Amino acid sequence: MCSACDRSVSPGGVVSDQNDLVATPTPAPTPTPTVTVVVPTYREAQNLPLLLERLAGVRREHGLELDLLIMDDRSGDGSVEAVAAAGHPWATLIERTGRRGLSPAVLEGIERARGEVVVVMDADLSHPPERIPDMLRALAGGREFVMGSRYVPGGTTDAGWGVYRWLNSRIATWLARPLTAVRDPMSGFFAMRRADLKRAAFLNPVGYKIALELIVKCRLKDVGEVPIHFADRQLGESKLNFKEQLKYLQHLRRLYLFRYGTWSHLAQFLVVGVTGLAVNLAALTLALWAGASDPVAVAAGIGVSVCTNFWLNRRFTFSYAKHGPVLRQFAGFVAASAGGAALNYVVTLQVNAARPTWPLQVAAVIGVAAGTLVNFLVNRYLVFPTHKRKAGEALATDPLG
Ligand code: GDD
Ligand code: MN
Repeated sequence: MCSACDRSVSPGGVVSDQNDLVATPTPAPTPTPTVTVVVPTYREAQNLPLLLERLAGVRREHGLELDLLIMDDRSGDGSVEAVAAAGHPWATLIERTGRRGLSPAVLEGIERARGEVVVVMDADLSHPPERIPDMLRALAGGREFVMGSRYVPGGTTDAGWGVYRWLNSRIATWLARPLTAVRDPMSGFFAMRRADLKRAAFLNPVGYKIALELIVKCRLKDVGEVPIHFADRQLGESKLNFKEQLKYLQHLRRLYLFRYGTWSHLAQFLVVGVTGLAVNLAALTLALWAGASDPVAVAAGIGVSVCTNFWLNRRFTFSYAKHGPVLRQFAGFVAASAGGAALNYVVTLQVNAARPTWPLQVAAVIGVAAGTLVNFLVNRYLVFPTHKRKAGEALATDPLG
């Protein structure tokens, strides 16, 4: 990790023994940044004394000017007392009154932070505070964002991870792949310069994957990863359930839209098209079972799939218009799909007549393909024709024409 690391974070030249740096020429020292650590908490009274002790050790050992903001959602479990009893002037517990939740707590903490660098981590000691100096070095070495990562060489998770949790984490990471190449974007342990936060116009606290939100919205390109051992929590219990995971999908969708704009609309449109094919075949099959004639069954398949396509496109693909006039939108959608749908209908029945031994479903797939192809060709050559060069017009102005 961090090949160009700056060791000035430990003024005495002391480097933590957990440090995994390969010997590189030490660059010119830069001043040690001030650091605010933001920790969202809900019912972590048992863990807070340990966390404070370990952070105190890191402060001491590396001479860091580090303060701590514990963003607590009124746990009422003795968290306030635990922090007071530790008596560290650099540690503050804030009893939140705004919207509850992990993300709102982190975002509020980041807003309140005064350090030049902001570090976010969990309270349950899953994230080793001893790694903070490594993260600071990576930032000083030019990284824009640094994550504590389980999935880079040297990173590990406790043995207790079941297949379900592992798979879950891997699938979630894979889904985020088009947004960032980071190996462990799910990690809630990260560091960034506070000044870079201004690059995001708007941060949405829907997802609890705040690191992903920040990387995408602040358009951070140079993201580094520091290997960590992700320890299972020993005390208290996890609060992130299945409902939160569904929210992750919603979050991803928004981030895709932010990053890819119209391309992500197209991708969703295509996915809806594929579901339309499945709906078409299902409805057609049902109609046949119910005793409908072939033409009626084909028409039913097409009709039902046009409706579900409309509904899905309105709900997801073009969700910005989901409060628009539904009847007018539906009429427009039907008009736009009418040509392709009519052709689909005719081709399906023709194929069925020519090959009566084939299942009607096969004919329907061919019909959908024909409808889609002709729809595309009509649009390509009639609705959006290529600009034709007039005689004498310089080729250079339109090399592709
Ligand atoms: N303020 C506040 N409000 N804090 C919360 C809330 C809430 O509603 N819910 C959870 N927290 C705090 C917890 O107290 C803990 O400090 C941290 O958020 C993480 O919660 P856990 O319950 O320990 O979550 P986890 O172990 O399932 O999730 C961890 O792993 C994920 C990747 O597998 C976290 O590190 C996540 O950030 C990470 O994405
Ligand atoms: Mn945890």
